[in-house]
Amino acid sequence: MFAAPRLSAVAKRAFSTSTSSNAAKVAVLGAAGGIGQPLSLLLKQSPLISHLSLYDIVNTPGVAADLSHINSNSKVTGHVPENNGLKDALTGCDIVVIPAGVPRKPGMTRDDLFNTNASIVRDLATACAEHCPKAHILVIANPVNSTVPIVAEVFKKAKVYDPKRLFGVTTLDVVRASRFVSEIKKIPTEDAKITVIGGHSGVTIVPLLSQSGYKFTEEEVKALTHRIQFGGDEVVKAKNGTGSATLSMAFAGARFTNSLLEATVAGKKNVVEPTFVQSDFFAKEGVDFFATNVELGANGVEKIHPIGQVNQYEQGLIDAAVPELKGNINKGKAFINKA
Ligand code: NAI
Repeated sequence: MFAAPRLSAVAKRAFSTSTSSNAAKVAVLGAAGGIGQPLSLLLKQSPLISHLSLYDIVNTPGVAADLSHINSNSKVTGHVPENNGLKDALTGCDIVVIPAGVPRKPGMTRDDLFNTNASIVRDLATACAEHCPKAHILVIANPVNSTVPIVAEVFKKAKVYDPKRLFGVTTLDVVRASRFVSEIKKIPTEDAKITVIGGHSGVTIVPLLSQSGYKFTEEEVKALTHRIQFGGDEVVKAKNGTGSATLSMAFAGARFTNSLLEATVAGKKNVVEPTFVQSDFFAKEGVDFFATNVELGANGVEKIHPIGQVNQYEQGLIDAAVPELKGNINKGKAFINKA
């Protein structure tokens, strides 16, 4: 069963008092995939979406026909590359979510996906820059630490880059962290609010358990940190070669998209989500993208929250994450700027 989307009172009010004219056109690129399909199902439930536009290289007409029978108010269209499909999918979009690309198999790191996914993301970003340059771009395709800089460089080349509108989706890391901590502490997940900063792969994922308000033993901290950093591997291993996290990722992707819709369409204030965005915390070290809690507003990034107090162990995690992030980010940039 899929969880119903979390809708704030503001969103419900916006729905009941508005016409669909101020709701958003949202595109999912890679919509027929393991993440794309359940993500599209969850987004079909949003009253803040007027048009759900599904693009993939295959199978979207079927996915769109199926979802279009659900009696929520959004229109659903399916697009494939033929007959200007990508242009039609993107034109007029307010938000574009990108889960297109290959997932990991056992033994692979997210960086191993670079060769295939970098060009997929580059080409989709090029089309976004042309057909919906003002859309908010939400990148799920891995390696996020590199694919987000790829989108930035493509948008810069097209002279349409707005750093407030580009997000790497790291929500799954906090969703996992919340769940894992709630299991250990035997508390409701709503009470397990864990800040996770850095990036979205292995050691670049930095949970700040000391900020949770709960006490952990040293062993618990080490075990939890490792599980949050490498939780994706548990799913890859259990799926035994058939893919990586899709359902939990769809849940996390829908949570982030719904939060952005609440901020941009419904005008809700104080919407805070963790996300990998352009920021200058470690600019001196050559790292210009970093995930922290970010307040979302009408134009995307409203305010980047500070990292806050960290203990010595967490400082060590940050120190390990920064050089790795730098390499990942530079790899993405170099892919676009190579001669
Ligand atoms: P999948 O293989 O099930 O689906 C990918 C879809 O992308 C397929 O339907 C494929 O046809 C489509 N696609 C390929 N090239 C395309 C193109 N040029 N244009 C449009 N669509 C295209 O893979 P899955 O499991 O849905 O994963 C997708 C991506 O999301 C992977 O890169 C995976 O690593 C990543 N991911 C990210 C997470 C995160 O936390 N940010 C978590 C889990 C996965």
